[in-house]
Amino acid sequence: MAKVIEHEPPYTVGYFVGSLASASINRTLSKVLVRLAPEQLEMTEIAIGNLPLYSYDYDADYPPVARDFKASIESMDAVLFVTPEYNRSIPGALKNAIDWASRPWGTNSFTGRPSAVIGTSSGAIGTAVAQQNLRSVLSFCNSPQMNAPEAYIQTVPGLFTDDGECTNDGTREFLESWMNDFLSFIQRVLTVVPSSARG
Ligand SMILES: Cc1cc2nc3c(=O)[nH]c(=O)nc-3n(C[C@H](O)[C@H](O)[C@H](O)COP(=O)(O)O)c2cc1C
Repeated sequence: MAKVIEHEPPYTVGYFVGSLASASINRTLSKVLVRLAPEQLEMTEIAIGNLPLYSYDYDADYPPVARDFKASIESMDAVLFVTPEYNRSIPGALKNAIDWASRPWGTNSFTGRPSAVIGTSSGAIGTAVAQQNLRSVLSFCNSPQMNAPEAYIQTVPGLFTDDGECTNDGTREFLESWMNDFLSFIQRVLTVVPSSARG
């Protein structure tokens, strides 16, 4: 039986910036990715900085800010994580946001929703360890992840302008290609995972 894609592009992508810092290089990377995204992807940031610290005490009566956060994710075809590496893992603010989205039990907003992870650091391994940690979390959250290509971006001064231009041809071509691969991945997942199976 032929597989039928659930809906044609454009696809909506909600992206998370894992850093709360005003001068975040990952926020700058997110601007670069939005610029380079194929026109079939509609990119919207989902903010994480206004969420309180999660506790299951909230599960009986989720606060409006958390309900809105989950609704934002659930309105998207896919999610993208652009994150720094803090102490060889993902920042606490990002983990807190994922915990909110994953609960209350039985309402995990990531289930069946395709995802991709990317990040930048001045360090040579470019957030590789944080991304592996994040992949583990997303596996438990039952999000189909784009496994390849991986994207570990080492930031050097001047690589990105503040408004999201990439000044290096090779890096720009790689990031553009990576976003096109994400489009293909989203399309594949939406072909086999119906919206009824998504959180
Ligand atoms: C608490 C903390 C821990 C850090 N740990 C790491 C690390 O494990 N690996 C790494 O490559 N950089 C680490 N860094 C340096 C960050 O890569 C650098 O601060 C970068 O600017 C963070 O990205 P952001 O500007 O988007 O927040 C750390 C920075 C902070 C503030």
